[in-house]
Amino acid sequence: MEKPLFKNETAIITGAGSGIGRGIAQRFAKEGANLCLVDIQEEKLQQLKRELESMTQPEQRVVVRSGNLCEGSFRESLVEEAVEIFGDIHVIVHSAGIYPSTPFLEITEQEWDSVLDLNLKAVFFLNQLVAKMMIVQGVKGRIVNISSTASEVARPGVAHYCSSKAGLKMLTQVLALELAPHGIRVNALGPGLVETDTLLNTLKTEKAKREHEEKISFSPLNRAALVEEIADGVVYFASSHSSYVTGQTLLVDGGYAAGRIFTSLQTINRRF
Ligand SMILES: NC(=O)c1ccc[n+]([C@@H]2O[C@H](COP(=O)([O-])OP(=O)(O)OC[C@H]3O[C@@H](n4cnc5c(N)ncnc54)[C@H](O)[C@@H]3O)[C@@H](O)[C@H]2O)c1
Repeated sequence: MEKPLFKNETAIITGAGSGIGRGIAQRFAKEGANLCLVDIQEEKLQQLKRELESMTQPEQRVVVRSGNLCEGSFRESLVEEAVEIFGDIHVIVHSAGIYPSTPFLEITEQEWDSVLDLNLKAVFFLNQLVAKMMIVQGVKGRIVNISSTASEVARPGVAHYCSSKAGLKMLTQVLALELAPHGIRVNALGPGLVETDTLLNTLKTEKAKREHEEKISFSPLNRAALVEEIADGVVYFASSHSSYVTGQTLLVDGGYAAGRIFTSLQTINRRF
């Protein structure tokens, strides 16, 4: 049997309580990682911990930390505790993110701040804390930021979200340059449409459902991604399979961004 990819390694995964982060946590557990799972929803973390503990090896450890990643004091205590418990930190995956949909003319300063604080600022400063630790520990770590096709394709109704993910793409590139001398690789993965519970819960009206079907049809592969397909890409970036790759944003989007000229125009004409 092949050795699990992350045996004796520790990964911090944010946004692990649901959706993509949860799928990544499940996949890393199968690949032998020790896990520090982070989310603002304590109950969801506890559920996941119980589930993972029934499938992990006896030597694997799963700890959960609930709190608000937008708070600097939470980010600091999170990294301190992870180091106390596990020692070295090898991987961090940032999946916590929000994607409210509001027309540009109606976005308030508060809504802008909430999106940018979590999707960009929290990632920036958590990466800073973790990278400092990896350098002290002499760990050739891997950072994986979960971005979006919104870093590439302008989409009406999510000006703040697109800005946050475009910023995340550039942050990924700059960190890749600055951390390369320490052997730390930094990449981002941009999913297209993934049918997570959060996304499905937004499909309450017939109009929302129609728009969702339309979005699916924009993907040349004509379907949404499975969470497992996103996790595959994260495993690639977090493992030695991508040992010569840094500073990249990989779109796992069923070809959506390849056809953006046509899809964006259709969307804009219909909605605005
Ligand atoms: N679902 C998609 O179609 C899709 C597409 C492209 C990109 N993404 C990106 O993937 C990531 C995950 O999206 P998802 O669909 O799995 O969302 P999700 O809502 O299912 O999961 C996000 C998790 O982040 C947690 N979270 C929210 N605010 C937090 C905070 N302040 N502190 C700590 N945790 C917090 C939530 O509790 C939740 O469990 C996001 O960055 C999103 O932008 C999603």
